[in-house]
Amino acid sequence: MHFNPRALFATLALLPALVVGQLSSSVGPLTSHTTKSATKTCNVLNYGAVADKSTDLGPPLASAFAACKSGGTVVIPSGDYALATWVTLSGGSAWALQLDGIIYRTGTDGGNMIFIEHSTDFELFSSTSKGAVQGNGYVFHAAGSISGPRILRLYEVTDFSVHDIILVDSPSFHFSIDTCTNGEIYNMAIRGGNEGGLDGIDVWSTNIWVHDVMVTNKDECVTVKSPSKYILIENIYCNWSGGCAIGSLSTGTDISYVTYKNVYTWSSNQMMMIKSNGGNGTVSNVIFENFIGHGNAYSLNIDQYWSSETTQAGNGVQLSDITFTNWKGGEAAGATRGPIRVICADGAPCTGITISDFAMWTESGSTQWYACRSAYGSGFCLHSGSTHTSYAVSTTTVSTAPSGYSASRMAADLSTAFGTTASIPIPTIPTSFYPGATPYTRSDRAGGGGPEEHAEGPLGAG
Ligand SMILES: *[C@@H]1O[C@H](CO)[C@@H](O)[C@H](O)[C@H]1NC(C)=O
Ligand SMILES: *[C@@H]1O[C@H](CO)[C@@H](O)[C@H](O)[C@H]1NC(C)=O
Repeated sequence: MHFNPRALFATLALLPALVVGQLSSSVGPLTSHTTKSATKTCNVLNYGAVADKSTDLGPPLASAFAACKSGGTVVIPSGDYALATWVTLSGGSAWALQLDGIIYRTGTDGGNMIFIEHSTDFELFSSTSKGAVQGNGYVFHAAGSISGPRILRLYEVTDFSVHDIILVDSPSFHFSIDTCTNGEIYNMAIRGGNEGGLDGIDVWSTNIWVHDVMVTNKDECVTVKSPSKYILIENIYCNWSGGCAIGSLSTGTDISYVTYKNVYTWSSNQMMMIKSNGGNGTVSNVIFENFIGHGNAYSLNIDQYWSSETTQAGNGVQLSDITFTNWKGGEAAGATRGPIRVICADGAPCTGITISDFAMWTESGSTQWYACRSAYGSGFCLHSGSTHTSYAVSTTTVSTAPSGYSASRMAADLSTAFGTTASIPIPTIPTSFYPGATPYTRSDRAGGGGPEEHAEGPLGAG
């Protein structure tokens, strides 16, 4: 099950200047779930669960976990379950959680509906790609609250994967990956309400590969927070979302070696934002490669004076060695919100920013702008030179479309938001997450694939 990144390094070694963000070692569980299931299987139906959509799954799930947490597989078979009390599954090793049923939130506590911590060699998956958690967040949102529970949180989990499950309408965040190591997240659909505070995936961890994920909401799509190192995020479909981001950042920021690749963003707040307001520490060695945008407000947006964040202590987070390359498509209104906005902290000017092969054009009106402030590097309005002093925002307005801006669309972009007051239907997991890209591992690993399949994934998609 372990993905070995050596093959990936071998290919990417051809591009040494560009390749700075990468995985550091293998990701994923050490033991296949078929081996775990053969060792021991704990079906929640044998621990008091009833697939009647009203009996609380919480205590049976905790009991099944207690019986299978050392080397076995906990199975939630297909059927409809209610979750009235939240579960903390702590301290498992070489275990799996097979979610083939649908869990409906019925409880109203805050916190995390499913909290998995201090686990190693762990896999959360659906064998049918139909396992889901329906958070029924609209009940909170219709009443004006986003303070209900998060659906799923992993804390201090190592050598793990989460895949082929669907998370819907969380009252709060959908999925947080907190201080984890060597993880793989893939083949997921997340669909939340159309407002802020309902993040898709937030990761602050080390050596994590997130790929083939679709998010609908109006806040974070797949976002990296501090501290993080060696994060590879690819084939991401922000299908009406807030968009991807790094941040928000504060004091002591420590983020390095992050790559986002093949990110398709439709009808979102931005394609990629780095957001902070004051603070200190560093973000370095980051690549944003192969981005397509349509109908978004902002596109490339670095904002170190982000007005939605309270001003933090510090002169500003130092951003350095950040590359944006091969960005195509359009933005909603380029005269109001231009496609390039690099607003760096005067107290810590950005260095080594590269913007290349970037062609985007406004979808309404006839002009667009590029804006830079205290930002150094190459491309567009960035200043060059080795003396990095602060400078005021400088804006370049253009009235001619750049050549080669047109870009593919996904066949089925969401055309109307789901709102916040009605139940949100559970989607299926898409078969593609980026135009022309095939998911790395769609069917081959749901049944427990071997390491060679992992190694071939990144090579095959080149
Ligand atoms: C960051 O700011 C905090 C708060 O002002 C300060 O305590 C800390 O020393 C600063 N760190 C660095 C690396 O400057
Ligand atoms: C985008 O979201 C909409 C609404 O959920 C869905 O109908 C469409 O299939 C999604 N696109 C893809 C490619 O899955």
